[in-house]
Amino acid sequence: MKKKLVTSALPYANGALHLGHLAGAYLPADIYVRYLRGRGRDVVWVCGSDEHGAAITIRAKKEGISPRDIIDKYHELNKGTFEKFGISFDYYHRTSEKLHHETAQEFFTKLYEQGDQFEEQTSKQYYDAEFNQFLADRYIKGTCPDCNYTEAYGDQCESCGNTRSPEELINPVSTLSGNKPELKETTHWFFKLDKHQEWLKQWVELGMLDGKKHHSPRTWKNHVTGQCMSWLNDELLPRAITRDLDWGIPVPLEGAEGKVLYVWFDAPIGYISATKQWALDNGKNWEDYWKGDDTELVHFIGKDNIVFHCIIFPAMLKAYGDYALPVNVPANQFLNFEGDKFSKSRGWGIEQHEYLEEFADFPNKEDALRYALTRNMPENKDADFKWDEFVEFHDKELVGNLGNYINRVLVLTHKYFEGKVPASDTNLSEKYAEVLELTNALAADIESFNFKQAASRLMEISSWGNTYLQDVSPWKIYKAEPDSPLIAECMYISLQVVTLLSALTEPFIPFTSKKIRRLLNLSELQNGDLDTILSDLTAGKALIASEHAVAQPELLFAQINDRKDDSRKLIIERQKAKLAALLALKAEEEAAKHDPVKPEITFDDFTKLDIRTGKIIAAEPIKKADKLLKLTVDLGFERRTIVSGIALQFKPEDVIGQEVSVLVNLAPRKMRGVVSEGMILMGEDKKGNLAFVGAPEGFGNGFGVK
Ligand code: MF3
Ligand code: ZN
Repeated sequence: MKKKLVTSALPYANGALHLGHLAGAYLPADIYVRYLRGRGRDVVWVCGSDEHGAAITIRAKKEGISPRDIIDKYHELNKGTFEKFGISFDYYHRTSEKLHHETAQEFFTKLYEQGDQFEEQTSKQYYDAEFNQFLADRYIKGTCPDCNYTEAYGDQCESCGNTRSPEELINPVSTLSGNKPELKETTHWFFKLDKHQEWLKQWVELGMLDGKKHHSPRTWKNHVTGQCMSWLNDELLPRAITRDLDWGIPVPLEGAEGKVLYVWFDAPIGYISATKQWALDNGKNWEDYWKGDDTELVHFIGKDNIVFHCIIFPAMLKAYGDYALPVNVPANQFLNFEGDKFSKSRGWGIEQHEYLEEFADFPNKEDALRYALTRNMPENKDADFKWDEFVEFHDKELVGNLGNYINRVLVLTHKYFEGKVPASDTNLSEKYAEVLELTNALAADIESFNFKQAASRLMEISSWGNTYLQDVSPWKIYKAEPDSPLIAECMYISLQVVTLLSALTEPFIPFTSKKIRRLLNLSELQNGDLDTILSDLTAGKALIASEHAVAQPELLFAQINDRKDDSRKLIIERQKAKLAALLALKAEEEAAKHDPVKPEITFDDFTKLDIRTGKIIAAEPIKKADKLLKLTVDLGFERRTIVSGIALQFKPEDVIGQEVSVLVNLAPRKMRGVVSEGMILMGEDKKGNLAFVGAPEGFGNGFGVK
């Protein structure tokens, strides 16, 4: 079996992480890695803080503190929060570590020395004269040419998600001084990505590398391959990999003072340095996991990182030589929050550590969230986190299905067998058949990165158990024949299924898994145990032996919608109330906003407008102009053709007979080949909804509107 090297995107150490991050790149990887460990695979999972980049320096400048203060704070916060959620990285490194700086510089030098991987380019870049420094892309804000969002960054527009370059922004502004930046000459090193286009395309599209099969492209998610191919079908260009900044990894070249490696050049190398540090601490050889044919690399990321992990970093690794390229990059799409994007500035959403604080009194809060996020994971399309769904997953699935089942089995075991697994000579292979099928499906789902589906298989298995228990109804048999072997058989089988669940739940809800093991009075799961359990299941062997004594039952979860105790419900209500208050505030602000009144005009200006009553008597669409209608309007004294931009909201047949007001002395204009002789007045609200402004029916046509 090959070794596995799993990575999760290194989060920037300049802010807390929200639930969307957890669902995007960390929870799925945790499920995957816990599963692989259970199967006894040789796997290492690395992550860490991404501690360079302009965003960190901007924040430091604005707050008048040092970048070091920021990264230390958020490194600790993020690392600790991950731990609390049971996110089980083998190593959580930092890109500010010396080992990382050396690794990244060595990487750069090796590519530089090849002579043909880099080129120098001198160009004009935005410079902030007041702050005396070149402006990295992130330092520049302006209007996005694609979506008109006015706060787009020079590297990416966070509204439409498109990658940007600073010179594309309309009205660029320096985020340091707020001034309009000037252009000044500077020299940088560029990685010649264009040299790598050919093989990259073969590799992404066909899974072929150096003429050999590397991976099956069908196993990659469509949205990942799709995004890559849209880049690879276009011309790749050399990309700047250095920046004029005073925070980061110095460019290891003479004459490069004041320049650092671009954060996206050094950060993915962070996966390598993290593996090195882990290997040092654990007596391993990092190269076993990064080089040669005996290892498989998998990157877990969010969709905004696809290009870096599927094109740029692979090109860097290949250019360096010897490194393994990822066999898969199962990127997730985005998680929204109650119908909108997570936004720190608007207070929309909840951060991981906030959740832990606000749910402090909520039993099993970590698993409750892990489960809800997995069941609604944005694997192939964006998903929306909703508190009502959280409650439903919790109460219906974790409490109603899984928790109840395990509790019933344990209670009955105590009732009929004094808490000991009864003996039975039943044919387990036969009884396992359906559960085995579901278990195999669950394993296949995890291996193919379908975690959402895998989680619902857990529920199917526990449903099977519930149904089986109900079908046999040992309590009924007990009344008639307390010594019936059917009772022992039923409990024996049920305890096998609960034992199976104690292991299958581990990757998803590890805290609960631990509790189930404790209730069963079984040892904590070790690496490889899941594999043994699956082989035993396949072979029809017992997973828990007769005579084994289980512990006293305890509830694994506590219902949120509980009639006797509303404390958990109140926690959820508080979250919902917070959102409702934000929405109300936003609605108020919206309502208070009116179009500004235009500059004053004279009465004479006004009387120049000749507005008349009229009626639409004919209407037809205009070819190739889906917004326009060609209208014939009866003005009493004559009929006019008027082209009107209302077609998105009104069908021709709906407007015939409509009373309207018409500006009749407007100079004729030709639109899409039709001469328009006037303008129909419309009311337009904030959302762009249109309404006709006309006299009541029967008023008559051609009269002046004054
Ligand atoms: N810090 C980046 C982000 O949050 C991710 C870096 S991933 C790595 O978008 F590969 F560069 F490490
Ligand atoms: Zn945009």
